[in-house]
Amino acid sequence: MMDILREPSSQLTSAGTMVQTSMSRSQVALLGLGLLLMLLLYVGLPGPPEQTSWLWGDPNVTILAGLTPGNSPIFYREVLPLHRARRVEVVLLHGKAFNSHTWEQLGTLQLLAQRGYRAVALDLPGFGNSAPSKEASTEAGRAELLEQVLRDLEVQNAVLVSPSLSGHYALPFLMRGHHQLHGFVPIAPTSTQNYTREQFWAVKTPTLILYGELDRILARESLRQLRHLPNHSVVKLRDAGHACYLHKPQDFHLVLLAFLDHLP
Ligand SMILES: *[C@@H]1O[C@H](CO)[C@@H](O)[C@H](O)[C@H]1NC(C)=O
Ligand SMILES: *[C@@H]1O[C@H](CO)[C@@H](O)[C@H](O)[C@H]1NC(C)=O
Ligand SMILES: *[C@@H]1O[C@H](CO)[C@@H](O)[C@H](O)[C@H]1NC(C)=O
Repeated sequence: MMDILREPSSQLTSAGTMVQTSMSRSQVALLGLGLLLMLLLYVGLPGPPEQTSWLWGDPNVTILAGLTPGNSPIFYREVLPLHRARRVEVVLLHGKAFNSHTWEQLGTLQLLAQRGYRAVALDLPGFGNSAPSKEASTEAGRAELLEQVLRDLEVQNAVLVSPSLSGHYALPFLMRGHHQLHGFVPIAPTSTQNYTREQFWAVKTPTLILYGELDRILARESLRQLRHLPNHSVVKLRDAGHACYLHKPQDFHLVLLAFLDHLP
C-alpha cells in the first residue's frame, strides 16, 4: 500500500513497520470500497465529494468552529479529544484548492478526536471563511500570523500538518519557531527552496515527510530540501498524486496516527 523509505537518520522505523503490518485484509477491502465510492462520487458528481465523510467520520464527534480575536481573524474548526487526551495537538493547514472543511470532509478531524487528539484546522487568510490579510504578504508576517493563532487558540504542543501552498506559512514558521513545534508533517509543501541546507539542519523537530507517488514536481523539489532535516522519515503513498491525503485517505490517516502515537 505504501513505501516506507528508511533514511539513515530515520527514527520512525518501528512506527513504519507497524503501519505496514497493520493493514489487515478487511482494511484493504474497506479501502478498496472507499476508493470505489470516491471514484463513483468523483465521476458521478460535478462538485467535490460532499458525501464521503460517513466512511470515516464519527457522527458523535462535535466539530466546533470559531474566529480568532485580533485584526486578522482566522476561521478554525476544532475537535476535542473524545476520551483520554494525548499530549500533542494537531494543527492542520491546507493547499490552494482547499480549506479547513477539507479535513472535516475527509474525517481527519473526527478520527483525531477519537484517537484522543485535540485538532484544529485553519482557513488561511483569503481562503474559506478567513479574510485576506495584509500581514500575510511577507515571510515574517506569515510566520507571525501562525504563531499568533497558536497563542490565541492556546495550542501548547503543536504538530503542524502542512500540504502544498501552506508551506508558505509553515516553512517560515518552522525556521523561526521550530522550538514550539513537537512535530512537523510536510506534504509536498511550497517554499522549501527559500531556505538553505544549514537552516534545515538546525531544525530538530521530529518530521514525517509525506507525499504521493504520482506527484512528480513539488514532492520531489520539497523532498530534496526536507531531507536535510536531521530527524525525519519519509512515507510515499502509492497511486496518490499531489493531494495524496485525498487520494488515499485511509493510508494517510494510518501513517499520520502512527507518527503522532510515537512522538515522545
Ligand atoms: C455514538 O454514541 C452512541 C451513544 O453513546 C453510541 O451508542 C454509538 O455507538 C456511537 N456511534 C459511533 C459511531 O461511535
Ligand atoms: C522566498 O524568498 C524571496 C527572497 O528572499 C522572497 O521574496 C519570497 O517572499 C520568499 N517566498 C516565500 C514563500 O517565503
Ligand atoms: C526523532 O523523532 C522521533 C519521533 O518521530 C522521536 O521519538 C525521537 O526521540 C527523535 N530523536 C531525536 C534525536 O530527537
